[in-house]
Amino acid sequence: MAATDLERFSNAEPEPRSLSLGGHVGFDSLPDQLVSKSVTQGFSFNILCVGETGIGKSTLMNTLFNTTFETEEASHHEACVRLRPQTYDLQESNVQLKLTIVDAVGFGDQINKDESYRPIVDYIDAQFENYLQEELKIRRSLFDYHDTRIHVCLYFITPTGHSLKSLDLVTMKKLDSKVNIIPIIAKADTISKSELHKFKIKIMGELVSNGVQIYQFPTDDEAVAEINAVMNAHLPFAVVGSTEEVKVGNKLVRARQYPWGVVQVENENHCDFVKLREMLIRVNMEDLREQTHSRHYELYRRCKLEEMDFQDSDGDSQPFSLQETYEAKRKEFLSELQRKEEEMRQI
Ligand code: GTP
Ligand code: MG
Repeated sequence: MAATDLERFSNAEPEPRSLSLGGHVGFDSLPDQLVSKSVTQGFSFNILCVGETGIGKSTLMNTLFNTTFETEEASHHEACVRLRPQTYDLQESNVQLKLTIVDAVGFGDQINKDESYRPIVDYIDAQFENYLQEELKIRRSLFDYHDTRIHVCLYFITPTGHSLKSLDLVTMKKLDSKVNIIPIIAKADTISKSELHKFKIKIMGELVSNGVQIYQFPTDDEAVAEINAVMNAHLPFAVVGSTEEVKVGNKLVRARQYPWGVVQVENENHCDFVKLREMLIRVNMEDLREQTHSRHYELYRRCKLEEMDFQDSDGDSQPFSLQETYEAKRKEFLSELQRKEEEMRQI
């Protein structure tokens, strides 16, 4: 065979041919194998709650997961915002969930709020860094690694009925490239129905005009496209939390009781709690996990590796060589060391 023929032969993309099978082979069980493997391994899900002290974060978490997480109330006198993660093992049917709830304690309590977002950003980055370090290890164990990357940030908006505070806008803007943000209006029972409607429109307008990217429920999967599209139009969800049970008719329901009536948490005419639970847990939990890995972590990883001078090859240049990058870095380091030594000697 001539050399050119050989080249052509090795460069040719083999076209896959479609064939029909003569009988049952069995690789149609692959999806089931995936499911059973994932179930044995268990899942992790990490929620970050950002909102003012006393806005109802803990109550909402208890209501969402229908349990009582042990939490302590924050004081209003924290010198700065502090992140407090707590991890719980939950089980429903045969599915194990390692749930981490991270509270931004003291958020909104400082007189100077310029740097309120920083501890939150640093915390999110630190989780990405831990994962990257694990990935870069020679002996890595990603299989049983406890992934602490934040999958969703529930941003609790105070139900003022006016507009977003600048603290909200600045914080969400700083977070939007690092985490999936779902904004929610907390304590929605404290605002009237017509005011709430106007408030929602105003919030969305402000988010758009300030270029804040919030998480959109995905509409590319046919099975959930319709419901997700409808729910995107309902954002931000106006929620009510309560762990108190009240008798309505002949049923006990979770509700908040007032002298003038009862607000039922799971009644869609009273608030959007059911919508939030449906979207966050029952429909899009996996998408939130996936987006965290493929969008937010990927961006962090890319910036980090570029900072370290690693580069992908473009079409014509030499392929990327770890060895060369390492040697170039080492040379740079040694010459810098030599320069410093020389400087000291001069002194
Ligand atoms: P810290 O952790 O101390 O920052 O507070 P938190 O944000 O966790 O608030 P928490 O859940 O402790 O609730 C504070 C108070 O608000 C409690 O008295 C709750 O009963 C009340 N609360 C919680 N959710 C709602 C709600 O949806 N509507 C109303 N009206 N009150 C609520
Ligand atoms: Mg709390």
